[in-house]
Amino acid sequence: MQELNGKVAVITGGGSGIGRAMALAFAEEGMDIAIGDIESSSGETVAEEIRSMGRQSIAVTCDVTNLDSVRGLVEATKTGLGGIHVVCNNAGVVAGKPTPELSEADWSWVLDVDLNGVVNGVLAFLPELVAQNEGHFVNTASIAGLIPLAAPGVISYTTAKYGVVGITETLHEELRPLGIGASVLCPGVVNTRIGESARNRPKAAGGPPTEPIPAIELAPGTEMPRIVGANVQEPPAIAARVVEAVKANDLYIVTHPETREAVEDRFTAIMAAYDKLESSLNK
Ligand SMILES: NC(=O)c1ccc[n+]([C@@H]2O[C@H](COP(=O)([O-])OP(=O)(O)OC[C@H]3O[C@@H](n4cnc5c(N)ncnc54)[C@H](O)[C@@H]3O)[C@@H](O)[C@H]2O)c1
Repeated sequence: MQELNGKVAVITGGGSGIGRAMALAFAEEGMDIAIGDIESSSGETVAEEIRSMGRQSIAVTCDVTNLDSVRGLVEATKTGLGGIHVVCNNAGVVAGKPTPELSEADWSWVLDVDLNGVVNGVLAFLPELVAQNEGHFVNTASIAGLIPLAAPGVISYTTAKYGVVGITETLHEELRPLGIGASVLCPGVVNTRIGESARNRPKAAGGPPTEPIPAIELAPGTEMPRIVGANVQEPPAIAARVVEAVKANDLYIVTHPETREAVEDRFTAIMAAYDKLESSLNK
């Protein structure tokens, strides 16, 4: 979508971090913005920032794990801003415990927000974009959607984020003839409140913890601390890449150059499996 000026972007998890930065960057491009966030006050603060930039903005309390709630975001955006063009399925959380200690509730919470949240965004928004033969999805995955990260709690996150990459790759191909684009955002570490995700842990998953949550530590002895911990970026740098990618309909949005080698290593290992197959078939 080359021309963003005068159009409308919707951003889930837009009340903080990467979502907030995308909201501000799209507003800079002349877009009006709907923020959907489970934290009403954060969403309203960002909407106010955007209104002070001279653009229209609404904040809608939205839980991406609930399809009716996401459909409410669709309706509120149409009524409040008169249309929908760019949909950022961005809300995400991480649970920080070693894999053997992760409970069913830990798994469900992360898969519900990080994967089903994107599915709900596609279910709710796609009919609107198809009806107008115009629009673009930006789905926030992570570098953890391209390579597995060895860190406590990250297994459920990685599982969800690989799914987000898969959904977006499929949308990108299938929706192209309908005039709809799709990009998947795969950042390394960004300075946001993701480490405090448990502030939004639902009652069904035990609610927010009463004890402070230890910071997620990447497993020592693996390459991951070097690759992922090397360069913590600020959200506006990530948002700038997103704006470029929407204009160009780029499928993959990568942001951290130092993650390249690890992605190459994964594909080299997969290719090695094909080499092995070939040599065993030729025996
Ligand atoms: N920060 C990083 O290092 C990093 C790296 C790669 C990918 N990401 C991804 O970026 C996205 C944004 O995270 P962030 O780092 O800005 O974290 P953040 O915690 O600063 O922002 C996440 C936002 O999502 C909202 N949210 C949480 N649960 C929700 C729900 N059920 N429904 C609606 N909103 C909900 C929160 O209220 C918050 O405003 C996530 O998908 C995350 O996985 C983050």
